[in-house]
Amino acid sequence: MIPEPIRRTARALAEGNLVAFPTETVFGLGGDASNPAAVARIFETKGRPADHPLIVHVSDVELLAPLADGVADYALALARAFWPGPMTLIVRRSAAVHDVVTGGQSTVGVRVPSHPTAVQLLRQFEDLGGRGVAAPSANRFGRVSPTTADAVRAELGDILRPTDIILDGEQPEVGIESTIIDCTGPAPAVLRPGSITDEMITAVTGSALGERAAGIRVSGSLPSHYAPAAAVVLNETPRPGDGLIALRHLETPAGVVRLAAPESVDEFARTLYAALRAADDAGISRVVALEPPGPGVAVAIRDRLRRASNGRRSSSATER
Ligand code: TXA
Ligand code: MG
Repeated sequence: MIPEPIRRTARALAEGNLVAFPTETVFGLGGDASNPAAVARIFETKGRPADHPLIVHVSDVELLAPLADGVADYALALARAFWPGPMTLIVRRSAAVHDVVTGGQSTVGVRVPSHPTAVQLLRQFEDLGGRGVAAPSANRFGRVSPTTADAVRAELGDILRPTDIILDGEQPEVGIESTIIDCTGPAPAVLRPGSITDEMITAVTGSALGERAAGIRVSGSLPSHYAPAAAVVLNETPRPGDGLIALRHLETPAGVVRLAAPESVDEFARTLYAALRAADDAGISRVVALEPPGPGVAVAIRDRLRRASNGRRSSSATER
């Protein structure tokens, strides 16, 4: 039985409104992917340039085919292995996908999320005839992705309309955005690292990763992104008054505000964005982040930290 708030939210989507909803990665700002006016409002609300495409979310692997025009075998293998879950596949798009969703590109990003609220919302929307929910992260362009409904309200509360809905739900388990994999070439190419790691991808496909094609626009790949108001610096010794984000075993110097002390890289990912927001809420002007070393999800954490810091770092941990 689908709870009434989720039914109401699915109806709001079908009527062309915007809906923020939790996923296992971050909160998304969704609109009916087949309604150009709704999709245009997503760009407007985020302040996002029209040439940065949106991911289409569906409830089931079977719903990839109608959106795509020929899907590589390795992409199907990845879909079967990691959906529902924190992975987005870029495939050649079918005629069913609107230009406004893809920014006029010939490809589309598709994701089947696993968060129970997202799954129920997508199913209910599909029962009403919906064919995918276009959703970027529910933050203003260039800012930190929200991992709570309160963070969505802080980002977009003033801009959303009374008929739009912010749906609450369990906290995102992953905490950083999905791994984006370009599946239009001979081998999968990772455009944005995430918790589905290079090692997990090659274990499924049995072959090396492909090179990232030139000219593909991924807004998360701009040098400055995921940035709070505070200046983020990497791998420096924090000064009194600074905020500090670092693995638990690393000590907090006197006078420094510890914003997060995660025990593992998974916890690091899950708590990172809330810690950056907490810095802004506390009026902290400088945050030192100590990059976690190693492969796996640490790669994605370092990617986000470097973009949040916009290149301000003194020395680096293990390179990818
Ligand atoms: O975890 C996530 O992926 C979250 C949740 C809500 O699903 N969504 C998300 O969306 O992070 P967004 O729009 O904030 O980031 C998606 C990135 C953007 O940088 C966009 O430019 C890129 O994916 N993208 C989308 N479609 C693409 C395409 N066809 N080709 C290349 N890049 C694409
Ligand atoms: Mg985003």
